[in-house]
Amino acid sequence: MIPRNVKDDFPILRQKMHGKSLIYLDSAATSQKPQGVIDALVRYYQEYNANVHRGIYHIAEEATRRYEASRGKVAGLINARRPEEIIFTRSTTEAINLVAYAWGRANMNEGDEILATEMEHHSNLVPWQMLAAERGAKLKFVPFDGQGLLDLDVYERLLNERTKLVALTHQSNVLGTINPVKDMTRKAHAVGAKVLVDGAQSAPHMPVNVQDLDVDFFALSAHKMCGPTGAGAIWARYEILDAMPPFHGGGEMIMLVQLDKSTYKEPPHKFEAGTPNIADCIVWSDAIDYLQDIGLDAIRAHEKQLTAYAISQLSEIPGIKILGPRDLERRGGVVSFHLDVAHPHDVAQVLDQEGIAVRAGHHCAQPLHRRLGISASTRASFYLYNNEDDVDALVRGLHVVHRMFSPRTAPVT
Ligand code: ALA
Repeated sequence: MIPRNVKDDFPILRQKMHGKSLIYLDSAATSQKPQGVIDALVRYYQEYNANVHRGIYHIAEEATRRYEASRGKVAGLINARRPEEIIFTRSTTEAINLVAYAWGRANMNEGDEILATEMEHHSNLVPWQMLAAERGAKLKFVPFDGQGLLDLDVYERLLNERTKLVALTHQSNVLGTINPVKDMTRKAHAVGAKVLVDGAQSAPHMPVNVQDLDVDFFALSAHKMCGPTGAGAIWARYEILDAMPPFHGGGEMIMLVQLDKSTYKEPPHKFEAGTPNIADCIVWSDAIDYLQDIGLDAIRAHEKQLTAYAISQLSEIPGIKILGPRDLERRGGVVSFHLDVAHPHDVAQVLDQEGIAVRAGHHCAQPLHRRLGISASTRASFYLYNNEDDVDALVRGLHVVHRMFSPRTAPVT
């Protein structure tokens, strides 16, 4: 169970917005930060700000120790075999690009195939388009059905010995769909393909075990899990990382530099050229501590309950179409919807006046919306600090939208 007063840990949520309590329903875009995480960030700059892996004085050693400890914490969060399998990046997007550049350019050849899905975020789509164009590879897509579930028969039909990579979101940032990653990975491995999972929307909200899923790459970021912005990671099995060429060249990723050539360090340092985002990578571990104290199982159970409540309450709004599966085992706490009377941007603007923050637009998933026959949707996304009162406020806000935009109530001119 999530303690009801968990909201008190998040100072931003004490604010008034347009005279109303701030109801934050945009955690799929970025999560809010508890006071402990904010304090840890200030502590870093006040007490031990120094570059890592370089200085041999006390605060540099402290910064290095905590930076590496945080790597271990991220490894523990997703059950990696060893900390060296975690490469820090600045975001999930950069994590996926690292694989596209470093692994992709070494392994993708003319006629090879990349299999993605039609529900991918642009960050798990555009890097593969760029790679495919450069290497002469082909992109193929698994469609989703009316409920927002992937068509696994088509998936199996599309897999073949030319498939080199399956790029797949763990949880859709629009539909909330939780994809059957383990089963899909088993099938991909049967044809010799590698599997990259975009875990941006799953790792903050449920327990993740990369060894059990048996995937090859798993990308995630700190800011969606109560941590700072600008810190992310790619996980891959050590053997894969070891065989991959570097991503960026520069300081700290080298063993020996001559004027005309260089040799490189072992993973993870081979992939972390230059001064990393020290503060935010370190403080990521405070966010993980915070989430683990509450429990990822408890967070998942809480969001499931809240999503069920939200779907049942939102269904009462006239002319609403709620996107994504109804089966709570197959979806997370992201509830996107479409109202027949108003454009999502108008919906979000009216809700903002009620103190409610939601996201409106295509949510970096244009092909997904195109497949649904709409250009945009409104999205409410929940986290551990949301409760049923927030859902009630959203429903009240949507009734305001409905009254304002419904043709029956529009003023006669
Ligand atoms: N990927 C984030 C979202 O879906 C930004 O809102």
